[in-house]
Amino acid sequence: MLSEITELQMRIQQLEKENRILQKKLERANAICLQLEETTRKKESLLRQVIDELKESQASLEKQSRELKQTLTDLKYAQTQLIQAEKMSSLGQLVAGVAHEINNPVNFIYGNLTHVQEYAYNLLLFVQLYRDRYPNPSPEIQALAEELDLEFIQADLPKVLGSMHMGTDRIRQIVLSLRNFSRMDEADSKAVDIHEGIDSTLLILQHRWQDSSAIQVIRDYGSLPLVECYPGQLNQVFMNILANAIDALEEANIKRSDQEIKENPSQITIQTSMMNSKWVKIAISDNGTGMTESVRQRIFDPFFTTKSVGKGTGMGMPISHQIITEKHGGKLDCFSIPGKGTEFIIQIPVQQPVSDAE
Ligand SMILES: Nc1ncnc2c1ncn2[C@@H]1O[C@H](COP(=O)(O)OP(=O)(O)OP(=O)(O)O)[C@@H](O)[C@H]1O
Ligand SMILES: [Mg+2]
Repeated sequence: MLSEITELQMRIQQLEKENRILQKKLERANAICLQLEETTRKKESLLRQVIDELKESQASLEKQSRELKQTLTDLKYAQTQLIQAEKMSSLGQLVAGVAHEINNPVNFIYGNLTHVQEYAYNLLLFVQLYRDRYPNPSPEIQALAEELDLEFIQADLPKVLGSMHMGTDRIRQIVLSLRNFSRMDEADSKAVDIHEGIDSTLLILQHRWQDSSAIQVIRDYGSLPLVECYPGQLNQVFMNILANAIDALEEANIKRSDQEIKENPSQITIQTSMMNSKWVKIAISDNGTGMTESVRQRIFDPFFTTKSVGKGTGMGMPISHQIITEKHGGKLDCFSIPGKGTEFIIQIPVQQPVSDAE
């Protein structure tokens, strides 16, 4: 019995010892575990930091690339604008030069033509009186009168002089329009007749619809006061809008038969009116191809064009928009229905705000 007890005690001691060892091992394992957790936490936070930094630098790279793209577009825009401005200004100078050169000789002819008409009228009167008083001239005079066909000359000379008068008058009008149009580089705003600007621009573009012959231009001009503006630049806007209208009409006509064109002729309508005492409105519409909403939304974007390479640069509308909004403090709107046509509405103040002048 005693020996059994001693054996049990020894067994208990043994177990206690083993228990202590296990306890110690557990403590050590716990410590290692804690240490491991701590290192993992540290590594995790380090990793998160690195990921955040990467994300940040990616965002800043994207931002930089966006900025670079924007700068490139701005640069391209500025370059094309400079080229356009230069083109318009040299076109203006050329037109002004030609107009000036033609102006003098034409005025010379025009001024003298009045005298020629008067002299011719007097001479004819004189000849007529002679013929009335001397109905039977000598055979020599009779023969010459017949040879020259004097009666025809008497009837035709006034007509010839009349059409020469009309012709020179027309040349003078053209010269005036050309001079009007060429007011490109006028740096200051001026009070001008907007209708004159539209008319001279139409004249410059006239060859375009004379070639295609099927385009009617309807001018529905209201009574407008002189409008303070940069005339050369405003003419450039009219030119861009009208040229686009002609393009759209020509494109629409490719698909139409002669009969269809006859029944529904291609038209450009120009309407001007006062919106109130301070603003004028110029609406230019065509019944050409029209455009889809997605095209319409992009027409003021630099370089946006639906025309073939070499035909369109896509700068006409953005420049026009800039001239109207930035230079004149106005508005340029576009409405269009595919297959029906397009309308551009220009609104500008009659007077430029003083601070706007550059
Ligand atoms: N009256 C119109 N009818 C139909 N589409 C038009 C009209 N006006 C402009 N557009 C559309 O707007 C686009 C942009 O016009 P914008 O005048 O800026 O450039 P473009 O005519 O293509 O080239 P350009 O720089 O030579 O004028 C055109 O390509 C065309 O698709
Ligand atoms: Mg254009």
